[in-house]
Amino acid sequence: MKSLLGPRKPVVPEAGDTSGSHRLKATLSWPHLVALGVGAIVGTGIYTLIGVGAERAGPAVILAFLVAGAVCACAALAYAEMATLMPAAGGAYTYTYAVLGETLAWIVGWSLILEYSLACSTVAVGWSGYLVGWLQSAGIHLPAALLVGPHAGGLVNLPAVVVSLAIAAMLTLGTRESATLNIVLVVIKMVALAAFVALALPAFDAAHLHPFMPYGFASHVQGGETRGVMAAAAVVFFAFYGFDAVATSAEEARNPGRDLTIGIVGSMALCTLIYILVAVAAIGALPFTALGQSAEPLALVLRTLGHPLASWAIAGAALVALPSVILVMMYGQSRIFFVMARDGLLPPVLARVSAKSGTPRLVTMITGLFVAAVAGFFRLDEIAELANAGTLLAFIAVGLSMMVLRRTAPDLRRIFSSPAPYVVGTLTVLGCLYLMASLPTKTLVRFAEWNAIGLAIYLLYARGRSLAGRT
Ligand code: ALA
Repeated sequence: MKSLLGPRKPVVPEAGDTSGSHRLKATLSWPHLVALGVGAIVGTGIYTLIGVGAERAGPAVILAFLVAGAVCACAALAYAEMATLMPAAGGAYTYTYAVLGETLAWIVGWSLILEYSLACSTVAVGWSGYLVGWLQSAGIHLPAALLVGPHAGGLVNLPAVVVSLAIAAMLTLGTRESATLNIVLVVIKMVALAAFVALALPAFDAAHLHPFMPYGFASHVQGGETRGVMAAAAVVFFAFYGFDAVATSAEEARNPGRDLTIGIVGSMALCTLIYILVAVAAIGALPFTALGQSAEPLALVLRTLGHPLASWAIAGAALVALPSVILVMMYGQSRIFFVMARDGLLPPVLARVSAKSGTPRLVTMITGLFVAAVAGFFRLDEIAELANAGTLLAFIAVGLSMMVLRRTAPDLRRIFSSPAPYVVGTLTVLGCLYLMASLPTKTLVRFAEWNAIGLAIYLLYARGRSLAGRT
């Protein structure tokens, strides 16, 4: 059993475990972490995927947001407990390593690559949609072949590529600078969503809510598309994660106990409230079919309601602020690679921290290139769904780790204790499994393929080089 699961890391890292040139600087306090959380959470999920969700569930996309939010709330509690217990970079990967062993940790780490990198790509594509609409309403038309990937008859989604590379370049300049700028962007994003609700809600037409669930509740294939409330929930789930990026930066928090708890739980609760308001306002304003066909649904709502200036402004806010999501997710990704390399599972050169900026530069650049390549050539909903599959697996691992550790190490001093841990843990695991099962079959097949490749790399390369196995 033990050899199958692989070695484990100590739950509380030994002093000196992360010292030297492989240690990240502790520069972040809780306002930075809440901003990191909100910066990562509010993005393409609410600005763009709300349209995809409406197409899959009809007006019941509101319900889909509630279902996904409830599952994420449980996951956030489990995350908060684990993150404060193990304030080391790496998030779900690190917790799994300590509690469930290296093999499962590798699978989680490999899945997190999908979560973070593909989330960046998704947001980059969503950003591109708002850019195109924004420029068009200003009378500027760019060559169509450079605005969408081959799946939509174009060559490459160039704006998505450019924004991905620009953010990667920014991140290599250093954590603190990026996190401070992030706060400004978060404020812009929130003001824009508040303005959207204020303008769209007065136009609420209850007739748009009927029929509320035209495609039923469970996910199923209808007319060649995956439909139903759960199918929508499995997509708009994307809108909720990002709080785990806060946990991933735990090693850089000044006061992990207090800062992380406020960062994770606070940002999650705030965002859930906003989403429900935005979804109700959007669905009440327009027939759901109109939302589903737009690459910039929130701007479309305001334009249709006769607020062209506000529509232009909200698209502008999305353009300025969505990159903050890419920033946080890319930051999270580079840290995952960094920690896996520090553990010996990836080539050690990836764990090198630049002496000047205190950031892992090489790994950030590699991440940026991967993100840009996916964003340039693939379809928004398909990238988002694959990112969701990776995230759901990570959340399942965190829920499980929390419950196992409660049993195996009940006396550990927990700075944040999840209420009713077994209920919360079980709901996290079952909720995520249900969401995963609601994804399109094609996504699940790709996810299995991705992990098969990962497992082959683990067995052929990583397992023999693991530093945990040598001590
Ligand atoms: N939750 C983030 C978003 O919606 C990833 O963009």
